[in-house]
Amino acid sequence: MRIFLLVLLGIIVNGNIWAQETKGLNPLLQNVYGRNVQILNGYWNYLVDPLETGYYDYRRRPSPFGFFKDVEVDNINAYKEYDFDTAPVMPIPGDWNTQNYELFQYEGTVWFRRVFNFNKNSDKRSYLYFGAANYHTIVYLNGKKVGEHEGGYTPFNFEVTDFLVDGKNKLIVKVDNKRRADAVPTNNFDWFNYGGITRDVLLVEAPSTFIQTYKIQLKKGSSNTIQGEVKLNGDKPLQKIVVEIPELKIRREVTTDNNGLARFDQVVNSKILNLWTPQNPKLYTVNIISETDKIIDEIGFRTIETKGNKILLNGKPLFLKGVSVHEEAAYRNGRIFSADESRILLGWAKEMGCNFVRLAHYPHNEHMVREAEKMGLLVWSEIPVYWTIHWKNPDVYANALNQLSEMIERDQNRANVIIWSIANETPHGDDRDIFLSNLAKYTRAKDDTRLISMAMERSDKSPTVLSIKDNMSEFVDIISFNQYVGWYDGINEKLDRVRWEIDYNKPIIISEFGGEAVFGLRGDVSEIWTEEYQAELYAKTLKMIDERMPEISGISPWVLKDFRSSRRLLPNYQDGFNRKGVVSDKGDKKLSFFVLREWFKTR
Ligand code: GCU
Repeated sequence: MRIFLLVLLGIIVNGNIWAQETKGLNPLLQNVYGRNVQILNGYWNYLVDPLETGYYDYRRRPSPFGFFKDVEVDNINAYKEYDFDTAPVMPIPGDWNTQNYELFQYEGTVWFRRVFNFNKNSDKRSYLYFGAANYHTIVYLNGKKVGEHEGGYTPFNFEVTDFLVDGKNKLIVKVDNKRRADAVPTNNFDWFNYGGITRDVLLVEAPSTFIQTYKIQLKKGSSNTIQGEVKLNGDKPLQKIVVEIPELKIRREVTTDNNGLARFDQVVNSKILNLWTPQNPKLYTVNIISETDKIIDEIGFRTIETKGNKILLNGKPLFLKGVSVHEEAAYRNGRIFSADESRILLGWAKEMGCNFVRLAHYPHNEHMVREAEKMGLLVWSEIPVYWTIHWKNPDVYANALNQLSEMIERDQNRANVIIWSIANETPHGDDRDIFLSNLAKYTRAKDDTRLISMAMERSDKSPTVLSIKDNMSEFVDIISFNQYVGWYDGINEKLDRVRWEIDYNKPIIISEFGGEAVFGLRGDVSEIWTEEYQAELYAKTLKMIDERMPEISGISPWVLKDFRSSRRLLPNYQDGFNRKGVVSDKGDKKLSFFVLREWFKTR
């Protein structure tokens, strides 16, 4: 399997694995919300199975009679030791931790079952689509395994055309959120390990030959040429495709090749093209019509590139007024999955004067990205290659690559996504450099219209001459780094004494800075954990930037909202939360929120 996986997922070049394509057996459907779907969200029965009794027999071998069979017995002639019909129900999507507090710290397997009716329409194909499930998922339909997925924050789907029956269907899903050292992320990360089916579940209908992927965006470096790519999936790959952008008076006909692929350049009248910007997040209706399918999307057009140490949006220098965001709901703190809850967090960022959000440390749900696009918020999107990844393990690389591929494929038509981030705070080393540089090369090959970055760590020249020195600097477009002077490194007064020497002629972003404060804990500015101390840390950091880092291109302080983390145990201060938010977990704005808001007004 491992060799097959590598062959499927990569080409071994000079001993390095660098995947040309990561397509599994089920290519990811794009823009599923633009298709006919049967929404399978709702109340699902569930069974908590810490010993995976529903999967293994008593000799720890996968059992053919597992819970996924959901056999109906009369308990006289045959017995079973599980029952979904009488099992409790849980609203899906939604993490199990905050929906059943007996499962708050549970890490293991939960089985979910959804029974649904289906009218078999012979000439259509059907895909089961999951927005995400954390962390390892196996999907069964009517007692048969349709597929499995590893990774807790990216979409996946399986074709189920031949698994569906007319009438009643049983969908059973095994989700296991156990952390593992050889996973992505590893078993060590500073956010809460919410488990379960955490995003939408859809049964997607598609024609026998459908539009699998498309990418429509201004060509790199051009403001009057749209570059398009459309890929068909099915038994009629050779088709005429019409791409319409009515508002731009564009109607372009192209023909796909034997692989179902068509690429084209289309001149656009730049006099009528309203470029997407944070101030004017203009989206255009784009119709993509093949002989057997049609899909509609709302796409913004803009160019993003770097020139020396500047980031250029539509050819103009851009300063990223940002904040880092975890995908955790305001107030209730569970995993976010809806547009409504996404808008609350994004609304706080807008209120603070942001034009940018760093969606850390994993791809957020599609609604978060689409709502940010409508609100004029640029996005940094990141895969959870976080801290001490097993750099030498090819399966770990394949996993990271697959999550990267799924992230790009889902959001490659979102104008506001300008940065793909391939890592956060990873320790320097040859194996890490090979792993990450291959991810960077893959990203460049898959999408040359966006910028690549990663959150690096400091490599100081002395305790007060701070610097960045990272072999990965040649592979990224933007040098981003996390620094915690005033919190992990000295107290606030140190911010007045440090200076920076960063010798790269590339744009620089401070991707994290900050300190913890308990909302409502007021006191002297010298007292850590008070709002005053956090506010002064922000004020001194921003002053340091104004005085000694005038050339940087942006910031995304850590973090918008206090978030749950099982690493944060200090009683009466943290109580299971990382308190670096400028907003508390209950939605209260701390003093630092207003310090940052005032500074953004000067930018
Ligand atoms: C790191 C890391 C974050 C973490 C933060 C902190 O920079 O990237 O994930 O939460 O520091 O220590 O609060």
